[in-house]
Amino acid sequence: MDRIRIVGGNRLNGVIPISGAKNAALPLMIASLLTDDTLTLENVPHLADVEQLIRILSNHGVDYSVNGRRQRQDSGYSRTIHFTARDIVDTTAPYELVSKMRASFWVIGPLLARMGEARVSLPGGCAIGTRPVDLFIDGLKALGVDIDIEGGYINARAPKGIQAGRYDFPKQSVGATHVLMMAASLANGAVEIHNAAREPEVTDLADCLNAMGACISGAGTSTILIEGVSALSGARHRVLPDRIETGTYAMAVAMAGGDVVLEDTSASLLDAALDTLRSTGTEVTPTNSGIHVRRNGAGLEPVDVTTDPFPGFPTDLQAQFMALMTRANGTSRVTETIFENRFMHVQELARLGADIALSGQTATITGVDTLKGAQVMATDLRASVSLVIAALAAEGETVVNRVYHLDRGFERLEEKLTRCGATVERLSS
Ligand code: EPZ
Repeated sequence: MDRIRIVGGNRLNGVIPISGAKNAALPLMIASLLTDDTLTLENVPHLADVEQLIRILSNHGVDYSVNGRRQRQDSGYSRTIHFTARDIVDTTAPYELVSKMRASFWVIGPLLARMGEARVSLPGGCAIGTRPVDLFIDGLKALGVDIDIEGGYINARAPKGIQAGRYDFPKQSVGATHVLMMAASLANGAVEIHNAAREPEVTDLADCLNAMGACISGAGTSTILIEGVSALSGARHRVLPDRIETGTYAMAVAMAGGDVVLEDTSASLLDAALDTLRSTGTEVTPTNSGIHVRRNGAGLEPVDVTTDPFPGFPTDLQAQFMALMTRANGTSRVTETIFENRFMHVQELARLGADIALSGQTATITGVDTLKGAQVMATDLRASVSLVIAALAAEGETVVNRVYHLDRGFERLEEKLTRCGATVERLSS
């Protein structure tokens, strides 16, 4: 299994191109199941999760072809991919595939809308918590879908199609909002979704569905209205920039010091995280095509953070921010409100010399003068990258094991950091 070796202490200077968003690309790819026409997605990041979803979609009958490269970049960066689901050959999503990748559960929405049935394995728990699917079930039931659960599978049927209806989310869910939006775009009538997730990836999916002929308004607010149409067509859509990758590199610069332009991204995708970063004393300035991040000399101020659904501070940047706070001039608190078990990085950061006390959903971090390199590993991609951030400022050598977690969500991480002066290399085994 590959590992990443990092020698800390170098400042970061240069330009980092930001890739298309993993968490937008996945639902957009799944939306290709809604039409027999070709959906062309540009700026699809080259990631293990994307490759895995391509295999899963192929299982349902989606053909794909890859072409196009972003100019100025080597081959292998974000790609243009054409997806065509001329015929759906299988409406079952088996345990072997769904358990490997939770987002593949989301095929339930388009399969139901287009084929009137879906048999989808329950995803089970994952490293960051139990992650139930009750909201998906209740939401689909509100749109007339019959659902029973047997042998670890959800059997869902909508023989007369998705019906008009209304669903009020008792709690916001990104994935369940994606699924209801996809299902409702082919409904027999109007669908209202209340307390919907407002993440930019939801808006991106709605934009793509509208380009395919759907009639969706309100995405990005908590009320989404969908007027069902009888069929969707193909479209061409560009995946929005990855706000989590953007925030991760911004925090890396804050941690290592230096002067970096994050290119092909937008500050408006992560205002809360950037404001938090400014409070640490890091200079963050939006530019026409990205964000300029700078920290020269000055120490890091401790800042308290609580994760929240968008537009709040994202849970997907919690581990990275905690890594940053391990070097702050004082004590900070990081509270996780979205997932109950998203603190696996705490023990690993401690191996590098961090001083973190965990109590319930809050970590109290007392900044230390020095971190020291060590062998570390993590069981989720954001936790893994938090170790990379810490390693950039640690004395000596850190080896991050289980690199496949990083490959799930960060396109060419070691190359992007190396180009800015970091000492990072992949050790193949
Ligand atoms: C998406 O997961 C992202 N994944 C996650 O990113 C992200 O952390 C999360 O949204 C929150 O922003 C993708 O987009 C592929 P949720 P999702 O449904 O949709 C609870 C990463 O690192 N819930 O918004 O699965 C759930 O347990 C990943 O890239 C229910 O209780 O998250 C959680 O506490 C990790 N019942 C909360 O809602 C349900 O039926 C929010 O989860 C569904 C969810």
